[in-house]
Amino acid sequence: MVKVALALASLFALTFAKPHAKRDLRLHERRDDVPDGFTNNGPASGDTPLRLRIALKQNNIEGLQDALMDVSTPTSANYGQHLTLEEVNAFVSPKPETVAAVDAWLSENGLTAKTLSPSGDWLGFQTTVSEANELFGADFSTFTHDETGETAVRTLAYSIPASLQGHLDLVHPTITFPNPLASKKPASFTPRRFRAPSNLSSDATAPASCNTAVTPTCVQDLYGIPLTPATQSTNQLAVSGFIDQFANQADLKTFLTSFRKDLPSSTTFTLQTLDGGSNPQSQSEAGIEADLDTQFTIGLATKVPTVFISVGNNFQDGALEGFLDIINFLLGESAPPQVLTTSYGQNENTISRSLANTLCNAYAQLGARGTSILFASGDGGVSGSQSASCRTFVPTFPSGCPFMTSVGATQNVNPEVAADFSSGGFSNFFGTPSYQTTAKSTFLTKLGNTNSGKFNTSGRGFPDVAALGVDVEIVFQGETGTVDGTSCASPIFASVVSLLNDQLVAAGKPVLGFLNPFLYSTGASALNDITSGSNPGCNTNGFTATAGWDPVTGLGTPNFAKLLTAVGL
Ligand SMILES: *[C@@H]1O[C@H](CO)[C@@H](O)[C@H](O)[C@H]1NC(C)=O
Ligand SMILES: *[C@@H]1O[C@H](CO)[C@@H](O)[C@H](O)[C@H]1NC(C)=O
Repeated sequence: MVKVALALASLFALTFAKPHAKRDLRLHERRDDVPDGFTNNGPASGDTPLRLRIALKQNNIEGLQDALMDVSTPTSANYGQHLTLEEVNAFVSPKPETVAAVDAWLSENGLTAKTLSPSGDWLGFQTTVSEANELFGADFSTFTHDETGETAVRTLAYSIPASLQGHLDLVHPTITFPNPLASKKPASFTPRRFRAPSNLSSDATAPASCNTAVTPTCVQDLYGIPLTPATQSTNQLAVSGFIDQFANQADLKTFLTSFRKDLPSSTTFTLQTLDGGSNPQSQSEAGIEADLDTQFTIGLATKVPTVFISVGNNFQDGALEGFLDIINFLLGESAPPQVLTTSYGQNENTISRSLANTLCNAYAQLGARGTSILFASGDGGVSGSQSASCRTFVPTFPSGCPFMTSVGATQNVNPEVAADFSSGGFSNFFGTPSYQTTAKSTFLTKLGNTNSGKFNTSGRGFPDVAALGVDVEIVFQGETGTVDGTSCASPIFASVVSLLNDQLVAAGKPVLGFLNPFLYSTGASALNDITSGSNPGCNTNGFTATAGWDPVTGLGTPNFAKLLTAVGL
């Protein structure tokens, strides 16, 4: 009797706990194979905890994108009329029926979700592998990265209930794999080498030549960047930091003492943290990338209030979730920074299309608020974020996203030429934005059949602009040395934009916000067009820099005086 009762009771419980075991699941996303470098070690243990996040369909993302273009296009009547937090949310918050459908599904399954974004379009919840397999008809397995031994629990496909179709954009992390090499090195856009040839004391005098040691003075001279201090306290420049790259105050002080003797050596950055981020100051914890990014903003954007944003590792998917979290964090601020520079990224083919799309739309939202978003384009020429073997060209993310500004690298000062590692090419995910149509077709016409079949002619081309990125002098763990990379170029270009914004604010004008519609129109002639050098990779010579826009150095490097005129000052 007892036994029967128990059996019945558990059967009962089973039926009730999983009322939708045979629910109508529809395949939502899949990838064809395990990404290169990973091995599938079979099903993950059912009790493995999983923290999943889901993206709810935004009510009118096309409307937001139109609004972004409207406030960012110089000829538009609404140019510079950036949106408020509430105005952005009105476009991107999910519709009530979406919220209702998702809420019903969550409660049906006994899940409690936390809101992860200011508009409520991202939710997160805690589950286990066996529960997630059931919820999403998935097969969460353990994958090992061959080179690093790191493991990740992922599924090659997942489904969603029919009732959530049209309401749910994606579940993460599922088919997008982590990027373990990025977290082993300071960044995938790491300075390629760091050498400490001399002590600061011997380097403290002016450098012999800007061709072999790029100091702030070299950059100021080449681009005509003023040394006069900025005056506007509301105009902020933000530098993102990920993967335990910490910005060291003592290194910054030594750098300023050496290279900006006109500035108080106490000039520094403020700190914001999220996802458990921190910024410890012991010398051994200083990071090359973070030191470079803070030194070449504070050392160039004279007296522009600069904030280092340290994103911690309180999530499951390395830099990608950090990328999303930092934007949602800034979107939640009533006054986000006017410029954000990021020297991290990865190959586009490592990210699912829908995740790439969602991140790209997050940049559109922050751009609509008036933030100029700049990213380093990558250091592998046409082969991706880092030099790698390849048969077809590898675009980088987020450079393929049309709602941010991608910065490539140059070298030498006379003449300034393309750096051979400067990543550039064409996205496989994002089509050509209208602001780029003419520039891109002019380039492709000149290119003819070169590299035909190696890249997607319909994709958004990158980078948009460039700046110096070879033999750039920084102070790292107390020593002076040089670094290479588009990592150098993004903070340099961001500093120029911040100084322009300072003067715009002082003149009572709006800041520049999303830059590309300006850069590809009135801004183009205010840039130094780089017309030689190339970015080889994948056993080809890559693309060659040429007059006009090209996928090596974009439209060119800044000319501050001309830019002032172009922005109407
Ligand atoms: C470097 O600096 C250290 C201490 O500051 C000093 O002992 C050493 O002699 C210096 N080396 C060179 C090559 O100048
Ligand atoms: C080429 O790029 C477009 C975006 O413009 C994309 O829709 C298409 O899928 C890409 N083709 C390939 C083969 O990746």
